[in-house]
Amino acid sequence: MAEPRLTLDVCTGTGDVALGFDPGSETVGTDFCLPMLALARRKALDGNRSLPLFAGDALMLPVAGGCVDVVTVAFGVRNFENLEQGLRELIRVLRPGGVLLILEFSRPSGFFGPLMRGWVRTVPPRLGRWLSGDSEAYNYLPQSVAEFPQGGRMVCLLESVGLEEVSARPVTGGVASVYQGRRSANG
Ligand SMILES: C[S@@+](CC[C@H](N)C(=O)[O-])C[C@H]1O[C@@H](n2cnc3c(N)ncnc32)[C@H](O)[C@@H]1O
Repeated sequence: MAEPRLTLDVCTGTGDVALGFDPGSETVGTDFCLPMLALARRKALDGNRSLPLFAGDALMLPVAGGCVDVVTVAFGVRNFENLEQGLRELIRVLRPGGVLLILEFSRPSGFFGPLMRGWVRTVPPRLGRWLSGDSEAYNYLPQSVAEFPQGGRMVCLLESVGLEEVSARPVTGGVASVYQGRRSANG
């Protein structure tokens, strides 16, 4: 792929993923949560980095169609109110031939799958409860991961909304997966 000109990091949160990209690349972050964007702005300023940010709902982005080279979403699509509508919206803003990259939690499989799934069910929620003092919020994580389409199902979904060359790659023992696909060069 040619050097991307414009990357849009959707559900950017506090900007960790966007700020992880090469400082020389042009990256813009968006999220619908203003306090998260304020923290992202602070981090960018503290790191002496330029990170343009704007408020926007991923299901209805205030972005012209076909103008972004790469769209990234880390740990965001699982929370979309309407997953299919959100994916179509991410594809809409991509230029023909542009790439969508999604990082999302998944259920580990294989030999260590049961062990890893047990870890995901127990450790992050307990850690979250301990750190935040909120006993309910982190029960949501394993439940939403279990319900979210992953692996082959997610690949089929991404193809059904119009992406080509779709692939899924488990990372960190399958606790998360990277999904990649390309908008057709013909539009
Ligand atoms: C778990 S955080 C991930 C943040 C960041 N991508 C990261 O990996 O550090 C999920 C973020 O998605 C945002 N989000 C969820 N649904 C969204 C939507 N429909 N439109 C915009 N942002 C959304 C939340 O506000 C939150 O900041």
